[in-house]
Amino acid sequence: MELAACGLAKRFRRNTGDANFLEAVHPVDLTMHSGEMMVLTGRSGSGKTTLLTMLAGLLPPSDGTAALDGKDLYSLSDAGLSRMRARHFAVIPQGASAVTSMTVMENILFPASLAGKDPPVRQAETLMERLGILKLRNVWPGELSGGELRRMSIVRALAAGPDFVFADEPTADLDDGNTALTLGILKETALEGSAVFVVTHDREAAAYADVLLRMDAGKLYKI
Ligand SMILES: Nc1ncnc2c1ncn2[C@@H]1O[C@H](COP(=O)(O)OP(=O)(O)OP(=O)(O)O)[C@@H](O)[C@H]1O
Ligand SMILES: [Mg+2]
Repeated sequence: MELAACGLAKRFRRNTGDANFLEAVHPVDLTMHSGEMMVLTGRSGSGKTTLLTMLAGLLPPSDGTAALDGKDLYSLSDAGLSRMRARHFAVIPQGASAVTSMTVMENILFPASLAGKDPPVRQAETLMERLGILKLRNVWPGELSGGELRRMSIVRALAAGPDFVFADEPTADLDDGNTALTLGILKETALEGSAVFVVTHDREAAAYADVLLRMDAGKLYKI
């Protein structure tokens, strides 16, 4: 499968002095392929999350298209886009994202149930074991540390074997050991056939990248 961005751009309305608009992402052409890991770096505020959320079908662009196997995500109905995202996409968001009324394991299995898939219990347990959170399966998210929550959201994204993974600073709250483990697991996910897009400040992440990108003031550069 492939996800192709063509002229994908985002302009935010803003009242911050000189200009009323902020070009958060200038027109981007980019194709994500199955089996490939893309790594995007760039300073805070350069537009990385904005680009990732547009690619993930979560933020309508101001211009351009993001097409999954030729079909523009944003030409679909809301219900059609939600179904498509549930079936093919998984996101590790930059901020907090746990459903607080569900246990850790329930959170992890939730995306599969939304997509009408069998709960990937075995895969979830394997990933939880590797990331050291298996014993937290029946705990409430409110009782977890930042790094434990981050690892929960990593397992939640990867357990069902998504076709596309969008990871926004997935190692931000992690120690060196868990950072290396997480980058390795994301790389494995790509090698097993997913298309993986990772935003990170981690210098070591470049070593895992098939395609290395940098954003600077809303403009995307291939390195
Ligand atoms: N909803 C919004 N409305 C207005 N401006 C926004 C909105 N979302 C983001 N921005 C602005 O767009 C720019 C890019 O934001 P974005 O979140 O994409 O940056 P980032 O590269 O992910 O930064 P960080 O590394 O801090 O996460 C920033 O200047 C931000 O203030
Ligand atoms: Mg961001």
